Amino acid sequence: MNVKNYKQKLLDELYKPYIKCMQCPLGGLGRTKVVFGAGNPDSKIMFIGEAPGAKEDELGLPFVGRSGQLLTRALNKLNVQRDDVFITNIVKCRPPNNRLPLPIESTTCKSILLFNQIKIIRPKIICTLGSHALNSLYDKVFQITKCRGKQHEFDGIVVIPTYHPAYVLRNPVSGKHFLEDIKCALELAEMIK
Ligand code: URA
Repeated sequence: MNVKNYKQKLLDELYKPYIKCMQCPLGGLGRTKVVFGAGNPDSKIMFIGEAPGAKEDELGLPFVGRSGQLLTRALNKLNVQRDDVFITNIVKCRPPNNRLPLPIESTTCKSILLFNQIKIIRPKIICTLGSHALNSLYDKVFQITKCRGKQHEFDGIVVIPTYHPAYVLRNPVSGKHFLEDIKCALELAEMIK
């Protein structure tokens, strides 16, 4: 079995007990599907957003609504296909009315799913999308405008934070920085051995 298939098998085993997860309040708040993540399990880069929205909850896939389409377009502009990278969120279930995940929801989901996904995939680069994903990864409050595009470190992995694509949709002028940050993250991912 090649590395990609092996990592996919490990991910499938990780997900199995949580297909109908009730480990945090979001399990009982109207979510349809647990959105674990999608893409290449052997990718050098992993994108982490906040939480699934309505479209993601319906289809069981991350970043497939308007924000996701913007992310996909940005990747395509840089000659990368969505399937080549791995995309997930801090929490895997849709919060009601798209509210921010509560600390208990993020903490629980990170410890059972996200941190194990990172251990299996071991990307060269993590690109966090938006301040919730960044703050939640580190359990610390950052100012996204100050730290975007700069290198941080998590568990020996380089982290490049950027804006959330929903923010870019609302503030098109930030699109230039969003694209620059993703370009930088992709280039670094290729450089790191
Ligand atoms: N916003 C996110 O943070 N994640 C998704 O999967 C979709 C929208």
